[in-house]
Amino acid sequence: MTNSEKLLNEALKFIPWGTQTNAKRPIMDYAGIMPFFVERAKGCRFWDVDGREFIDYRMALGPVILGYCYDEVDEAVKRQIEKGVLFSMASPLEIELAKRITQVVPSVEMVRFMKNGVDANACNIRLARSFTGKDKIIRCGYNGYHDWFVTGVKGNGVPEILNSCVYEVKYGDLEEVEKILKRDAHNIACILTVPYDFNEDTSGDFPRGLRKLADEYDVLLIFDEVLTGFRLSIGGAQEFFNVKPDLSSFAKAMANGYPISAYGGRKDIMKKLDDIVLTATYAGETLSICAAITTIDIMKREKIHQHLFNVGEMLMKGFSEIAIRFGVEAKVGGLPVASFFLFNYKDEKKNKRLHFLLNRELFKSGIFVYDRWFVSFSHKEKEVTETLEKFESALKNTLDFYVRENLL
Ligand SMILES: Cc1ncc(COP(=O)(O)O)c(C=O)c1O
Repeated sequence: MTNSEKLLNEALKFIPWGTQTNAKRPIMDYAGIMPFFVERAKGCRFWDVDGREFIDYRMALGPVILGYCYDEVDEAVKRQIEKGVLFSMASPLEIELAKRITQVVPSVEMVRFMKNGVDANACNIRLARSFTGKDKIIRCGYNGYHDWFVTGVKGNGVPEILNSCVYEVKYGDLEEVEKILKRDAHNIACILTVPYDFNEDTSGDFPRGLRKLADEYDVLLIFDEVLTGFRLSIGGAQEFFNVKPDLSSFAKAMANGYPISAYGGRKDIMKKLDDIVLTATYAGETLSICAAITTIDIMKREKIHQHLFNVGEMLMKGFSEIAIRFGVEAKVGGLPVASFFLFNYKDEKKNKRLHFLLNRELFKSGIFVYDRWFVSFSHKEKEVTETLEKFESALKNTLDFYVRENLL
């Protein structure tokens, strides 16, 4: 039994799921192969509790954009530890970070901080309701675990009565949004949506279409940039697609993994915060604020996003070439900062099985990925070349295994 498996047995005695985050839940079909517990990480690599080394393409589910233990960020944080983590009154660092965000994100004139992505979204929803005096929302994508983003069904702990306040739409479905607005805009405070869902549609037509509809029907437009912010570009998806929301939520990539989120936008809306109480003890915690300031400064100085696109494109090109060489029906798509490789046979069961087997082979060869290939500033050409070599043999083993499996 591996140390990962032993630790999971132990964890499950004390921690439901054995972990805190849904996406980190161990997949038992990969037991003995998938690294369930990580010991340490540096750059684009981590080492699991069995001493195995991985090149990571999950990057802590998005936040680590420069690389793990990025010296300049961590040194700044260490200096701040000497001064204090949390004070009895505000820290001037809050102003420094607010200034930077308003400089780099086109739509943000004022901003406040929280801890998780879900907090930023919840604050924006409360703010939009308070500002417009309307209760209902239209929402799209995963926005977090709070009651306002989860459909209430018997037993899941979310009051079913809240469902009447929320319309959920599919990414790209402008027609459905317009239908809802036609019928009920006078009760709708805002549309809260991910501006890009990391799938094939990289056109930006959906967020741009929503901007038009929001203006036409007089509702606020909120971008949930928790995953896209500071990743697609320093100004997020709104800069990348050139579309201006009224409010936005940010979290993951803004502080290279330190826990902080932000919500902000139009000054006239943000001023409404003078009248309502959105507050949290740890929202002004200085280490994460310091990490965010340093991360944003590095992003500006080093042209991080150019690098992410370059290495991401190299990966995508490599995947396509390898798939062609092996005669595999595959789809390589998305934006290079977090692209995808999917099998594309008519038989969905076959696609799913091949995907499972490919992940297994990649784990075995020291590549850690799931669904999307998140790259960081620490993924250099050398690592991408190593990844493509390993990907090629993983794909070969996958196909061999699949053929053998189907002969039995
Ligand atoms: C688009 C989006 N919004 C909100 C969230 C929730 O963020 P957090 O887990 O930090 O609360 C996530 C998390 O994955 C997300 O991807």
